Amino acid sequence: MPSNLRIGILGSGLMGSKLGTIWARAGHQVVFSYARSARKLQRLAKAAGKNATAGTPAEAVRDADVVLLAVHWSRVDDVLGQAGELEGKVIVTCSLPMNDDDTALVLGHTTSGAEELARRVPQALVVAAFGTVPSEVLFDVFKRKRRAKRASLVYCGDDARSKKVVARLIADTGFDPVDAGPLSTARYTEPFTLLVARLAYEGDTGPELAYRFEHFGGRRGRRS
Ligand SMILES: NC(=O)c1ccc[n+]([C@@H]2O[C@H](COP(=O)([O-])OP(=O)(O)OC[C@H]3O[C@@H](n4cnc5c(N)ncnc54)[C@H](OP(=O)(O)O)[C@@H]3O)[C@@H](O)[C@H]2O)c1
Repeated sequence: MPSNLRIGILGSGLMGSKLGTIWARAGHQVVFSYARSARKLQRLAKAAGKNATAGTPAEAVRDADVVLLAVHWSRVDDVLGQAGELEGKVIVTCSLPMNDDDTALVLGHTTSGAEELARRVPQALVVAAFGTVPSEVLFDVFKRKRRAKRASLVYCGDDARSKKVVARLIADTGFDPVDAGPLSTARYTEPFTLLVARLAYEGDTGPELAYRFEHFGGRRGRRS
C-alpha cells in the first residue's frame, strides 16, 4: 500500500464528511460521494483542501485503496448498487445496523452489520472501525493527536493486510488502534456503540466523547 491512500467516501454526512476531511488534511487523497446534493459534496471537498474532490459513488470507488461506508443501514444496498465493482477493495464500515427510526439494532447475537456487509460484498475486504465514537469528537481527537495518551478505537476484521491499512488510518485520525480480532467481534462493538451514544447524547457532558482502554498488570495469563 502507498503511504498516501486513495480513499472513497460513500456517505458524506456526519461521519463521512468529518473523516474524509481529516484524512485529506492528513495527506490522503479523498473523494466525497453520496449525499442528496452534489453542491454539498463540492463544498465539502473545497473546504477539505487540495487532497479532496467530489464525485459519484462509482468515481469514489474506482481508484480507491480504501472505501469508507458511512450511510444509514437502510441506504446500504442503494449506495453499494451505485458504487459498482468492489473486488479487492478494503471497505471500512462505521455503519450500524439500526432500524429506520434509529431506536434499536436490527441485527445482533449471532451476526452483526459488519458481517452482513461482508456477506453482501464477498469480493471486498471488510473492516469495522470508527463506528464506536460519535462524529462530534473526531475533529478534537485529530487536533490532539500529538498527545501522549490517545483515545482508543477498536477495529475488527478477518484480513490481516486490510486491518493494517485501517489501523494506519485510525492512527492518522489521532486514535490508538485496538485490534479486537475477527469481524465477528462487531457483534460486541455494535451494541457497545449504543452505550457510547447514550453517554454522549443523554449525559450532561456533551457528545465530544471518546474512550480509552488501559492495561494493568504485565504478562498475559497472570491472575490475581
Ligand atoms: N453520526 C455519528 O456520530 C455516528 C457514530 C457512529 C456510527 N454512525 C453510523 O454511521 C453511519 C453514518 O451515520 P451519519 O450520522 O454520518 O449519517 P448521516 O449524517 O445521515 O449521513 C448519511 C449520508 O448519506 C446520504 N444519503 C442519505 N440518503 C441518501 C439518498 N437517498 N441519496 C443520496 N445520499 C443519501 C446523506 O446525504 P445528505 O448529506 O444530503 O444528508 C449523508 O451524506 C450510520 O450507519 C450510523 O449509524 C454514526
